[in-house]
Amino acid sequence: MHTLLLHSTIFALFAIFIVNIGLAVGQNSAWNIKQNPFPKAKRISATVSFPSAKAKGNVTLADPYQWLQNDTDPATIKFVADQKSLTESFIKKCTSVKQIEQSVRDAFNYNDYSDMTFFEDAKVPFWFYSVTGPNEDRKTYYIATPAEMEVARKTNFAKPPGKKFLMESLLSSNNSASIVYTMVSLDHTLIAYMVVDDGADTGSWYVRRLDSPLVQAKTRPPGGEGRLPDVIPYVYQDLRWTLDSKAFFYTQYSDNGTIVAYHQLGTPVDKDITIVNPDPDPANLWYLDYSFDGKWLVVFSAANTDSKATAYATLLTGQKLSDKMKWISIVPTRDLSLFSPVGILDGNWYVVTDENAIDRKVVKVKLDWTKAKEVTNLSQLKGRLNFTDVIPNRPFRQLNLARQTDTNKALVVYVENGKYVLYIFDLRTGKQLQKILPDEKSSPHAAFFATPTNKYWTLAYRSTVSPVKIFQVHHTETGIQTKLLTAQAIKGSNPDDYDTEQMEAISKDGTKVPYFLVRHRNRPSNTSSSIWLHGYGAYGDIDNLFWDERYFSWLQAGTGRGFVWAGLRGGGDKGEEWHIAGKNRNKPKTFDDMVAIAQDLIKRKLVNKGQINLEGNSAGGLMSAVVARQAPVGTFGAVMPDVALLDYLFFYTGAIGPANVNEFGDPAIPVEFDIIESWDPIRNLSPNIQPPPTLLTLADSDDRVVPANAYKYLAQAQHDHPNSRNPLLMYVSTSSGHISSRATTTTMVSLAVHQQCFLELTIGK
Ligand SMILES: *[C@@H]1O[C@H](CO)[C@@H](O)[C@H](O)[C@H]1NC(C)=O
Ligand SMILES: *[C@@H]1O[C@H](CO)[C@@H](O)[C@H](O)[C@H]1NC(C)=O
Ligand SMILES: *[C@@H]1O[C@H](CO)[C@@H](O)[C@H](O)[C@H]1NC(C)=O
Ligand SMILES: *[C@@H]1O[C@H](CO)[C@@H](O)[C@H](O)[C@H]1NC(C)=O
Ligand SMILES: *[C@@H]1O[C@H](CO)[C@@H](O)[C@H](O)[C@H]1NC(C)=O
Ligand SMILES: *[C@@H]1O[C@H](CO)[C@@H](O)[C@H](O)[C@H]1NC(C)=O
Ligand SMILES: *[C@@H]1O[C@H](CO)[C@@H](O)[C@H](O)[C@H]1NC(C)=O
Repeated sequence: MHTLLLHSTIFALFAIFIVNIGLAVGQNSAWNIKQNPFPKAKRISATVSFPSAKAKGNVTLADPYQWLQNDTDPATIKFVADQKSLTESFIKKCTSVKQIEQSVRDAFNYNDYSDMTFFEDAKVPFWFYSVTGPNEDRKTYYIATPAEMEVARKTNFAKPPGKKFLMESLLSSNNSASIVYTMVSLDHTLIAYMVVDDGADTGSWYVRRLDSPLVQAKTRPPGGEGRLPDVIPYVYQDLRWTLDSKAFFYTQYSDNGTIVAYHQLGTPVDKDITIVNPDPDPANLWYLDYSFDGKWLVVFSAANTDSKATAYATLLTGQKLSDKMKWISIVPTRDLSLFSPVGILDGNWYVVTDENAIDRKVVKVKLDWTKAKEVTNLSQLKGRLNFTDVIPNRPFRQLNLARQTDTNKALVVYVENGKYVLYIFDLRTGKQLQKILPDEKSSPHAAFFATPTNKYWTLAYRSTVSPVKIFQVHHTETGIQTKLLTAQAIKGSNPDDYDTEQMEAISKDGTKVPYFLVRHRNRPSNTSSSIWLHGYGAYGDIDNLFWDERYFSWLQAGTGRGFVWAGLRGGGDKGEEWHIAGKNRNKPKTFDDMVAIAQDLIKRKLVNKGQINLEGNSAGGLMSAVVARQAPVGTFGAVMPDVALLDYLFFYTGAIGPANVNEFGDPAIPVEFDIIESWDPIRNLSPNIQPPPTLLTLADSDDRVVPANAYKYLAQAQHDHPNSRNPLLMYVSTSSGHISSRATTTTMVSLAVHQQCFLELTIGK
């Protein structure tokens, strides 16, 4: 192995002399451009023109591969086929395909527990949860006793405890139905469950008795056999049972927009009482908040494109339900952003807003019934109520979610320095009571509450090294107690064997950038060990510490490997301030930050130059392509831009055009064009700079970032480097869309095998 490397280094130096490329990068031993020349791709004389401030006028840029934007053109089809066979001829040299595939499959092999809820107030307390088993694509819901759960806890939930209650696979004849929400009635005898058919925008609520399981069936009518006759169609989210468990409030699409209505069990749906007439704008959806004492109903409407909302409340006692009731308006005009509703306590509605609070705060509003007016159309109401701060804005820490629990408290989730930190606050005083699970370095993905008054609830996490980790949270006299219910582990691994260290790099402008390094505690690592460096850095998102089968299988399979999550500016790691610091005209800061992290890893002797794999998806794919070019030559042994925007000047008007422009800049504005041109991946390729080994991964049906991004970028890179010393390749996932819709296990395994084989052939095992 050593001899080979030495040999190839000499060869590379020789090659440098001949072609006069001023770089000292080792020749890749598996790669041989002579044996596998790049496919020829014609160049046409198309151009694009943009106004530049620097040039004081328009600049015209060549766009020689514009023809690749036509997916149905036979020339494009041939280009893609040729690239695929080039990639396969390289990947074929990977000697560990079988082991890699097995390790990726193993990483998909776990019980995905969810929805875990403890109904402590029931006459006979019980647990309710769901599980999707390995190789299953549909959930099964279970009901278990506390004793059964405790036994399961001692074996880390190797088998789902309790009795099967409801199987999604029995809810439709074509196995295309899934349950997206469930609501247990307050007397614990009934459950409402919302079923959505794959790909549909709306679903239906069905109701069944909790003592009427559906675990086998002769027929598969919608909603399954043995349910009650009540069906509410055209629904999208909310349902709230009334205190007597004989009726519920719900939201629904109608011909003229969304409505709020009331259904009495056992009565025909067409007799349901509409209490809120359609919002005039069909883009606005109604949502509900209902006080646990059954007195108040708050309805608020928000567009699905932003969080600007209107909100109204009604007192349910002393009024007959109809579309002509007394209401008060809380926010009558759409001038306030309302995020998660927190709950209703002492006649106050608590909600999260960003009004004068860049990182959001919890406010409350006294529901003043003296202002109530009888109306048939809520938009006739004009008064606005005053909000009072309860939990004020905390700079550089974004309030992600707040939710009422134990009657007068709230779970509040912040993002602090790249990680989620959970607190309990007193809702009446706004005082912080306690931090929960302060040492947890993972990403919470859900919390499950039975009711706002419950003393027990659960928190579900995913982490780099465990797909599911669930804690029970218990409010006691002396404060919160937490108990681990399960941390699902992948065969051959133990989540406790991994350390997650938080570190900081200093970016070009002196800013400290957080990152996390995950490594096996007992496996020796040294500077020859490799590191997978992942980042995103856009839209204020947090992209840290989550579970991904592809990442974990790679981390698990080799000695000394490390996985790094980068907290780049542009993301939300340090509040909305951090987002703004890396968006639009500040976009270059995102790239500086990643360069700094890569250099920090090398400086700390955690990894050698050339042993880092730089990877990111979507906006992170763009980032990785830019950083591959901007970091000192030789920093990266591999670069994997995934579903990446690589030709920004051409595709900024794509499917999410306006959002992109806000995030990355508008090339129609001269100053912004100049900044974009300085980083736009395809326009910064150069014949004088050999790109690192590059594998572009994309999805054939991606309409968010169209495949032509990768085609054009690759064609240009290959044209610039006809004798490339490194592989410059692409891999296409078929029948796949942008990230989340690239969902089947088979597609993911194939993608992972290509990525990890590429790494074996570039960075090494
Ligand atoms: C300059 O570029 C813009 C944007 O592409 C275009 O609309 C405009 O027509 C161009 N102007 C000239 C004089 O070419
Ligand atoms: C794409 O190519 C096909 C086949 O050559 C052609 O029929 C079609 O007009 C082209 N589409 C565009 C938008 O140029
Ligand atoms: C499955 O069947 C339902 C009717 O039971 C139908 O509405 C739906 O379109 C089908 N879905 C798929 C993905 O075939
Ligand atoms: C929808 O609005 C139209 C026009 O205002 C009206 O004629 C129709 O009855 C409404 N439909 C419903 C279901 O309210
Ligand atoms: C309610 O009032 C608004 C504004 O006056 C109007 O646009 C809308 O059509 C009304 N809705 C109904 C259901 O009457
Ligand atoms: C809201 O506060 C403003 C200023 O403090 C005050 O003028 C106004 O009367 C208050 N409105 C209500 C409805 O309490
Ligand atoms: C360094 O670690 C690699 C595995 O990451 C191992 O193969 C190699 O033997 C180690 N080298 C030394 C000098 O310990």
